[in-house]
Amino acid sequence: MKTEIVDLFSLPRREQQDAIEKAAAVIRRGGLVVFPTETVYGLGGAATDPSAAEKIYAAKGRPADNPLIIHVAEPEDAETYALTSPLYYALASAFMPGPLTVILPVKETIPKTVTAGLPTVAVRCPVNPIAHALLEASGIPIAAPSANLSGSPSTTTAKDAVADMQGRVDMILCGGDSELGLESTIVKIDEDGGLTVLRPGVITQKDLAAVASPVRVADAVLSGLKDGETPLSPGMKYKHYAPRTPFFLLNGTKEKVKQYLAELPRSAAAFTYAEDLADFSQATAATLIPIGKKEEPKTLARNLFRLLRESDEEGYSALYAPLPSQDGIGLALLNRMVRAAAHHIITL
Ligand code: TXA
Ligand code: MG
Repeated sequence: MKTEIVDLFSLPRREQQDAIEKAAAVIRRGGLVVFPTETVYGLGGAATDPSAAEKIYAAKGRPADNPLIIHVAEPEDAETYALTSPLYYALASAFMPGPLTVILPVKETIPKTVTAGLPTVAVRCPVNPIAHALLEASGIPIAAPSANLSGSPSTTTAKDAVADMQGRVDMILCGGDSELGLESTIVKIDEDGGLTVLRPGVITQKDLAAVASPVRVADAVLSGLKDGETPLSPGMKYKHYAPRTPFFLLNGTKEKVKQYLAELPRSAAAFTYAEDLADFSQATAATLIPIGKKEEPKTLARNLFRLLRESDEEGYSALYAPLPSQDGIGLALLNRMVRAAAHHIITL
């Protein structure tokens, strides 16, 4: 398939709007458009069109039993597609538009191919202005998983989105780097009025606790799924975010990590906190890749997927990273890193 690639930032305002209208027309006629969001790039198709969802699964190489998030221009647009509740609106007024996805009972307006036959649908209202303009111009919700080949790290830059999606979609809207770099926080509303976090993100458990209580975190967020356990979110059971390079997490103090890196060959590489770079570079022959300051998890989050992809291009023999803390945004980072490393954690 021939993919039209449009670099929105290189266009004057008027032509940007024309490109967005064109992309909206592609969506309305059942085609696929890759577009930026504040979390990661999305691979979008009409959420009301069963065949668009099939095309999305095919373009990603994604199993069709892993449902899609529907994106809406305004929180209240969810009414037509899902059963909302006062708690949904409380979450919407606190966090939408923004990086939160809420699981709600689905209405018949959404085809089964989108929800993989579940009685629920995932709803998100992105804040990125390009995503918002595309949703408004389309006039229908857009089903969009992350714009990466299934199993690979999500794409957070236009370059990475083009690398994975060129030839598989009708159009790619390039709109700079994703500001947050990790996918949205996904929550399920529980019968007791609390929430369960199915996928942690930049909106943390503590943020959510200001709106609902209790806020639980699904076990599968950090542990592997036990045999036979039915995942709350089908995406939990798949291999995820994995670079091609063998990737290992190092669980230990700064000194232990330094000692471990000292034994590595030149062909290996390690994500390293900015404050440790100078010290570690004296100690190891491996390539050190700065990932940000330890105490700035937002920076670490923004860099993670991009650096995993860049590392694959370099062809290192193996890649290592320090295990992040579980606090706040750290939980989202840890969740993605543990999965990217396929649970290979080396305790030092
Ligand atoms: O930030 C994001 O959420 C990005 C951008 C593009 O919006 N999208 C994204 O989509 O990460 P995707 O498809 O890569 O991840 C969606 C996750 C999957 O793990 C899926 O299993 C889960 O949401 N999901 C979708 N519908 C669900 C439902 N009805 N119940 C439980 N989990 C659901
Ligand atoms: Mg994904």
